Formats: sequence, structure tokens, C-alpha cells
Amino acid sequence: MFANAYRGRRVFVTGHTGFKGSWLAAWLLRLGAEVGGYADGIPTTPSHFSAINLGGHLMDIRGDIRDRQALDDAIDRFRPEVIFHLAAQALVRKSYAAPAETFETNMTGTLNVLEAARRSSALLALVLITSDKCYRNDEWIWGYRETDHLGGADPYSASKGCAEIIAHSYFQSFFQSGPACATTRAGNVIGGGDWAEDRIVPDCARAWSQACPAVIRSPLATRPWQLVLEPLSGYLWLGARLLDNQGHPFDPRGQAYNFGPADGVNNTVAEITESLAKYWPDFHVAMDKAGQAGMKESTLLKLCCDKALTHLNWKATLQFDETIRYTADWYRCFYNGEGGKKPQNIMNFTLGQIAAYENAAAQRKLIWTR
Ligand SMILES: NC(=O)c1ccc[n+]([C@@H]2O[C@H](COP(=O)([O-])OP(=O)(O)OC[C@H]3O[C@@H](n4cnc5c(N)ncnc54)[C@H](O)[C@@H]3O)[C@@H](O)[C@H]2O)c1
Repeated sequence: MFANAYRGRRVFVTGHTGFKGSWLAAWLLRLGAEVGGYADGIPTTPSHFSAINLGGHLMDIRGDIRDRQALDDAIDRFRPEVIFHLAAQALVRKSYAAPAETFETNMTGTLNVLEAARRSSALLALVLITSDKCYRNDEWIWGYRETDHLGGADPYSASKGCAEIIAHSYFQSFFQSGPACATTRAGNVIGGGDWAEDRIVPDCARAWSQACPAVIRSPLATRPWQLVLEPLSGYLWLGARLLDNQGHPFDPRGQAYNFGPADGVNNTVAEITESLAKYWPDFHVAMDKAGQAGMKESTLLKLCCDKALTHLNWKATLQFDETIRYTADWYRCFYNGEGGKKPQNIMNFTLGQIAAYENAAAQRKLIWTR
């Protein structure tokens, strides 16, 4: 997998206590990496991080990404060869309640990671995770390309556009030599173990576990939903290519890449809830008509992933139904257990899903499985 790039490597993941960071750290452990994580705390209760007891398997460092000295100290201590930067204030709704904190965390946090990368002599590759929301959303029907305008209306989206601009300034100004760097702009991610506020699948899982209807705001809103392992496979493959690009025609250094669902297909919120209901008995939804008041949230957002396909030969593995099945199965295991027995630590289930996903990708001959 991933040209064996991570076996024995020292890999630093910021935001390792979060939804995507905890899956990425678990996958890196499976790939034989030595993993260090940096985050300010555990963002939710429950959490994927705690459910799989991840803290017991890696160097678990707590600090604020806005604190440059603390981050420098952590990176000096761990001496990573690869950094994946995911730590962020990642919620659109919270960004309206706490705009300054969102900009500071997402812009200054990215700046601090780049400064630490500039100083680090051990670092070989840096992958910065921003978002598909970094694009100015024109509500158009076409997929956004990496050359489209940056800058969203809400503070979260704008902060991710700012992070992109900062990163590409550093790439051009300081990283022509030294660590190989790139940014990634993935679409909306779903999967087991997310309990963030105001995200469709966590809201549904919470409601289902409490035998209440899930309250949804915009049933017809479409997003490039994908299983958490899909963009992570893109980040890991990009990291591997930044470490060693021999024999490949395109150089990913200094580039930005979209990672989105197979065939660019977007689904609606209603399709997500209807599909979850196939796997969760007695799951129901209710409409919240007042919930959108005062907030601008785009309804149409598509990603064009031709650049990732051409440069990296990367594409998504799963179809929508498979994505929902992985997601629903994970929450069912967490809440109900396997075979009626509730597991205390579901690391094995998480690793089993990663193995199943690797197998599905290998059967479909995806390049990173070689
Ligand atoms: N979840 C999605 O659908 C999605 C889609 C596109 C991009 N992203 C991006 O992927 C990354 C991870 O998203 P997620 O869904 O796992 O988010 P999350 O909220 O689950 O996790 C965020 C992580 O960042 C850490 N963090 C937050 N503020 C911090 C601070 N000030 N100092 C140190 N650590 C801090 C948290 O502790 C946590 O570990 C983010 O950069 C997000 O913007 C997420």
C-alpha cells in the first residue's frame, strides 16, 4: 500500500483527536508508521479517538495550534519526516458564533505549521488539509477546479481560502528546496466515529441512538459526500508521491488537489437519511424549517477531481451505497456491539473497515494499493 512509503516513518498528524485525524492516525499505524499527534483536546464526547483508545498507540501531544512555540517544541521533540496538518475549527455553524477563533485557528494554525516546517531539518513532506469550501461558491452546476476563485462567504470557508493563500505563498517563497509540500481540498466526509455538532450523519447517529427523529434543515442540499477513507487515501498517496515521485510524469510539489467522490456524483441530504434508514431499524427524520435563519450555507457544491486523476492517478473507490453501509455499520457496532455484545474498544472494527476498504481498492486496481 502507498508504495510502502510509511513503514518505519515518523509521521506527525495535527488534529489527531478529531474525526478525520483519528482515522488517518489509525491507518498510519496499520501501515507501520511511528505516529505523533498534536491537538488541543478531544473535540467531542463520545469520539472516535477515545473509542479506539488511540492515545495508547502514538505520541499524544496536547497543545494549541495557535501557539507557535508549543507547536515548535512538539515538532522538535518528535522530529517528523512527514506532517499531515488537519487541526482546525472545522464547523461552518461554529464559525458564525466564533469567527475570530475560526480565523486564528485555521489561518494562524496553518502559518505556524509552515513556519515549523521551514525550521525543521528532518521534514521531507508536508500535506496541508484545507477544504472544498475554500472556493468562492457561485452555486453553479459545474465542479470547482483548483484554478477557480478562492474565498467563501462564511468565516469557516473564508478561513480555509486564507489558509490556501498562505500555504501557496510559502511554497513559492521558501519551499522550492527543502520539504515537498501540497494542499488538499476534499469534499464533505462521512463515516463512523464523527460526533461533531451540526453535521448530518452525527446528527442522525445521535438521534437514532436515542430513538428520536433526526432533525434536518436542507433535505435537497447536495454535497460531494465521501467515506472518510477516500480523501485519506488521497492524502496518503499524495504524501507518498511527495516523498518519492520517481517514474511519475507530474510533480505534485507546490500543487493543490481536490479529492471528491467517484464520477463526481453528489448526493442530497435526503438521500443520505433515506439510505441510513435501510441499515438502522426505526430511524426517522423531521424537518427544521427555522434552523437556517441568519446563516448562509451553500446548497450546491461540486468538485472536479480531474487534476488528482491526471497528476496522481487517484480516484475514489466506493459508490454511494457502499459509503453509507460502512458508515451505518460502524455506528451500529458502537451503539449495539457486534453479535449483541458491546465492544469496549472498537479499534479492531476500525482497522477491519480500513482493511476492507484497502481490499475493495485493490480489487478495483487503484494505484495506491500497489
Ligand atoms: N469533516 C469534513 O467533512 C471535512 C471536509 C473537508 C475538510 N475538512 C478538514 O479536515 C480537517 C479535519 O476535520 P475533522 O472533520 O476531523 O474535524 P474535527 O472537528 O473532528 O477535528 C478537529 C481537530 O483539530 C483540533 N483542533 C481544533 N482547534 C485546535 C486548536 N486551536 N489547536 C490545536 N488543535 C485544534 C481538534 O482537537 C481536533 O483534533 C479540518 O482541517 C477540516 O477543515 C473536513
